[in-house]
Amino acid sequence: MYGGDEVSAIVLDVGYTSCKAGFAGEDNPKAVFPTAVGVVRSGKDGVVGKGPAAPGEKMDVDPPAAGAPAAAAAAAGTTAGTEEVKYNIGTQALSIRKDFMDIENPIQDVKDWDLAQKLWDHAFKDRLRIVPEEHPMLLAEPSFNSNECREKLLEIMFEHYKVPAVFISKNAVLSSFSCGRSTAVVLDSGGGATCVAPVHEGYVLQKAIVRSPFSGEKLTEYLLSVLEGKGTNVRPPYMLNKKIGKDGTIASVTEITGLENIRPSFKRYMQKTIINDLKETVCRTSETVFDESSNAQIPFAQYELPDGKVIDVGAERFKADKCSIFGVNSPSELQALHDCINESVGKCDSDIKKDLYGTVIVTGGNTLFPMFKERLERELAESISLLKVKTISPMATTERRFSVWIGGSILASLGSFQQMWISKKQWSEEGVRIVHSQCP
Ligand SMILES: Nc1ncnc2c1ncn2[C@@H]1O[C@H](COP(=O)(O)OP(=O)(O)OP(=O)(O)O)[C@@H](O)[C@H]1O
Ligand SMILES: [Mg+2]
Repeated sequence: MYGGDEVSAIVLDVGYTSCKAGFAGEDNPKAVFPTAVGVVRSGKDGVVGKGPAAPGEKMDVDPPAAGAPAAAAAAAGTTAGTEEVKYNIGTQALSIRKDFMDIENPIQDVKDWDLAQKLWDHAFKDRLRIVPEEHPMLLAEPSFNSNECREKLLEIMFEHYKVPAVFISKNAVLSSFSCGRSTAVVLDSGGGATCVAPVHEGYVLQKAIVRSPFSGEKLTEYLLSVLEGKGTNVRPPYMLNKKIGKDGTIASVTEITGLENIRPSFKRYMQKTIINDLKETVCRTSETVFDESSNAQIPFAQYELPDGKVIDVGAERFKADKCSIFGVNSPSELQALHDCINESVGKCDSDIKKDLYGTVIVTGGNTLFPMFKERLERELAESISLLKVKTISPMATTERRFSVWIGGSILASLGSFQQMWISKKQWSEEGVRIVHSQCP
């Protein structure tokens, strides 16, 4: 039990592609920034990369935390041993090219905890502007998180950040709370993966979780490879010198020279930023199983690349789902999503199946394609004949992307929840194992 309820709790959802951080009780996370760290290590000659923003370069700036100085979102520097290492976090810092800067993601299968701490530092100091010692932390975790990761999370929060109290809650539980449900089957498709998890009376039924590698990142990579395969050169703004004519249009574009020290991971990251935008603006879910011949007549959508080149995006804007959001045509493709749900519900007790099919929550950024929810609901309903299916998903884009965080914000501000916190005292008396008994 944690007794200090004078300060608001912090809610953190560190996803594969974006971190959401903010104050419990608020409607939306105050800070949303990429789960990516730009790392510049000093070379053998001691040179640390540097480089100005190109003239006219467009910057995608994170909304700053209220009152935060603009400089706070920029690079944070530190020293590791004798090697000097500089870290760049946040959309703005990552959009400025720097020599020798590698883009790394700490939230892979093998976690890089030191790098993950850079993201938390950025969230606490630069974005929320709080002192972690003063705030209880509610951390969202993947529903399939390993015991080892949960223990490590707890250890870092208490030992490194010296927080007064911690609670770790599963993504699926938080998403169902955000929809006002305690029993549901939650399909969360985000940047890194898709996870189907049944939640019964506030607890994830762990043995029935089904995972699919289908993800927003996979779709982005697929679209980029399709465009490159067609000979499209996706050039990010940092590579370009643009002259704007009197009429406001691009008069000339030349490629900036001398970019030999720009790392391939930075180029790829910037290219994917462009493709994410293309994907989020022109792609949509095909209403039926995609087949090349019947979709030959699909009208093109046009998209302007940063160099001013306008490309036609045809069938691939529907076909992005071939990898396969839905219908599966070959065994090498992924399991269809309605099958994932059926497999998951199939592993649950028969007396709760009706309730689960009656509350299918569809959430995560990768479900925001037009027609996604409708198609999933229809295919799911067609695949089971005896039970009624009802999908629920927050209609607003922000709520669907932030449902995990919003659920955490609701949970951490409930009066009845306050006895659930793991306090520093409990931690020092019982050690890391307490996370398993206290956080289901
Ligand atoms: N309007 C949109 N249409 C399609 N895809 C979108 C849209 N908005 C965001 N996305 C995609 O959603 C993904 C991010 O979703 P989300 O924020 O739920 O993931 P995450 O929480 O970082 O990852 P995960 O939950 O897998 O750890 C990105 O791939 C992004 O391109
Ligand atoms: Mg997520």
